[in-house]
Amino acid sequence: MLNFNYYSPTEFVFGRGAEERAGEMIRKRGGTKVLVHFGGGSAIRSGLMDRVTASLDAAGLPYITLGGVQPNPRSSLVYRGIELARAEGVDFILAVGGGSVIDSSKAIALGVPYDGDFWDFFCGKAKPERALGVGVVLTLAAAGSEGSKSCVITQEDGGFKRGCGNELNRPKFALMNPEVTYTLPAYQTACGATDMMAHVLERYFTNEKGVDLTDRLCEAVLSAVIKAAPVAIAEPDNYEARAQLMWASTLAHNDSCGLGREGDWASHQIEHELSARYDVAHGAGLAVVFPAWMRYQLDHDPMRFAQLAVRVWGCDMDFEHPEKTGLEGIERYEQFLKSIGMPTRLGELHVDPADIPAMAGKCKRNNAGKLGFFRPLDTGDIAKILYSAM
Ligand code: NZQ
Ligand code: ZN
Repeated sequence: MLNFNYYSPTEFVFGRGAEERAGEMIRKRGGTKVLVHFGGGSAIRSGLMDRVTASLDAAGLPYITLGGVQPNPRSSLVYRGIELARAEGVDFILAVGGGSVIDSSKAIALGVPYDGDFWDFFCGKAKPERALGVGVVLTLAAAGSEGSKSCVITQEDGGFKRGCGNELNRPKFALMNPEVTYTLPAYQTACGATDMMAHVLERYFTNEKGVDLTDRLCEAVLSAVIKAAPVAIAEPDNYEARAQLMWASTLAHNDSCGLGREGDWASHQIEHELSARYDVAHGAGLAVVFPAWMRYQLDHDPMRFAQLAVRVWGCDMDFEHPEKTGLEGIERYEQFLKSIGMPTRLGELHVDPADIPAMAGKCKRNNAGKLGFFRPLDTGDIAKILYSAM
């Protein structure tokens, strides 16, 4: 197990009515003027926004609102949010939404106290030293941004989708009421389940030995999601299924499952090229990329794939041919994704094979110029993975 430093300062308030505590929680954190940031309108239509703003009013907190965050959040709205927050003297951002709204809020929070361009933090030009506080009212169990240190934004100038990982990005609090997710369409529910599974799998595929505890945590989160996702899709207002998914989204990505081990993260970087170019939902892109990545990497450590297949997918172990067991696990994973309505081929996302070399060349790399850590990939490998998913 590797040494680690675990910092998870977010206060999680989970359950019915959690959103009504927004005002109180911001006051507790010293916020005096709030920017309420939201997406394309689902939170207004469901009545959630009224409950949230009523809670700010009750706490005597002045606020302004900025909606319009699109899935795969764009830099242009971040620039607008930074200007608005500065002009209005905002000192706290409240994100009401899913990963895109939370990430747009995190980026605004980084940009307000910074003299330069907020994108400096995403292209590696600068490291953030300060940020406004961000609180979250979560409406979608998926990205895990409510507890994560990452923030992912698409820079429209050049079409780059890039992340900034920094402890300053961890929200101060997250208000998580599973009932709020009843209005999610089946497709978004499935995309969310796929994303949280991917967050666990990115961590699962490690070369680190002596990580049995985190392996078992990963397997537990995966098993719970596999059980709850079909229920939530069939019965959108099933509280228990929604609750399992909501907490799983946080556990999958707040690092509990990744401590003491190095994760891979190649599939996420490859997917970011897909969503930057084709504006596909992040979970849908992962449903195509991850199984293809797994097939390509199976021979690197067949026993790890077989362990996953046996413990999570219920496959029988073939000790003489662990790669066969591993492959069966990958096939069951792919079948599961199909069963919840996810695409598993690039063609279903209308990807043009002619774009593959450019996408493969553009993926963000580690310091050695390679992608991922399990078995690092070069541009040729990435292209092969993408071609195999056509
Ligand atoms: O915009 P509205 O109208 O609210 O509709 C949204 C949006 O269209 C809708 N929605 C959200 N909550 C709803 C709802 N519809 C009905 N009822 C509700 N309760 O869902 C759609 C998708 O929302 P979005 O926020 O884009 O989804 P998600 O949470 O999957 O976030 C995806 C973004 O997060 C990034 C992804 O790359 C992508 O940009 N990620 C962020 C991470 C992080 N910061 O830690 C990690 C992830 O790996 C991921 O990369
Ligand atoms: Zn993700």
